[in-house]
Amino acid sequence: QAVNLHECLDLITRLSRHAGKIIKSRINQKKTIETKATSIDFVTETDQEVEKLLIEGIKQKYPNHKFIGEESFAAGIKEKLTSAPTWIIDPVDGTTNFVHSYPNVCISIGLAVGGEVKLGVIFNPVLDMFFRAIKGEGAFLNDEPIKVSGVKNLSDALVAVEFGSSRDEDFRSIVAHNINYLAKHAHGIRAAGSAAWNLAQVARGAIDLYVEMGIHAWDMAAGDIIIREAGGSVMDPAGKEFDLMKRRVLGSSSIEIANEVYPNLQQYYPEHD
Ligand code: IPD
Repeated sequence: QAVNLHECLDLITRLSRHAGKIIKSRINQKKTIETKATSIDFVTETDQEVEKLLIEGIKQKYPNHKFIGEESFAAGIKEKLTSAPTWIIDPVDGTTNFVHSYPNVCISIGLAVGGEVKLGVIFNPVLDMFFRAIKGEGAFLNDEPIKVSGVKNLSDALVAVEFGSSRDEDFRSIVAHNINYLAKHAHGIRAAGSAAWNLAQVARGAIDLYVEMGIHAWDMAAGDIIIREAGGSVMDPAGKEFDLMKRRVLGSSSIEIANEVYPNLQQYYPEHD
């Protein structure tokens, strides 16, 4: 099945700009929230509405394409990643930010073909920052090419982390250990509340390394290709090859900094997507 990635990008740009208007118009309003996997894993009606809008918009043009969507997954629709063209969608990455009107939320959309992400879009509608990449064609922020910083040492790095959405004691202790190690050596640590945002910041050179274990395919799919196209590295946090479905990511400005950091991390292996 031949896929025209430029046509796909045009479609998803249009749909995400439309969805972005909805998110932006609601971020400062009161939301009705429900919880999903844990007591601090939230979903709002906007997450569900935006995912529906995106999936229906794509289906109209590509009725045979498949979908792995955060909210469809939560509703029990669990697609495996196959070689078929598959859209991997997080309608609102940073739902906790959205709930609290903290202005850092992103729509994150990746398109995998042959099991590999070939196209990615991350759009922060509040800050109007639109990141995109197509395999082999570089990465862009609002139509300007972007590159990773190239920083090679943790001692020169600004690092992004997240505290995750699990209250599990073992998990929290691993996160605390890793953040403590990173904070001891880096210039500084940031936790922005959106995995897609963190990956996009690595791609544009504002963050030098980001690591998280326990996230999902829809948090990482677009960021994976955008970082690689910006010249950065994406690997598994144990130093192995990145696997989109294994819920673990280490994105960085260079392979050197990734190789320095990963042997010092405690590892957490969640159930696969
Ligand atoms: C979450 C955010 C957060 C990360 C969590 C994700 P969501 O995504 O990306 O930064 O720490 O692991 O689940 O639920 O807001 O789409």
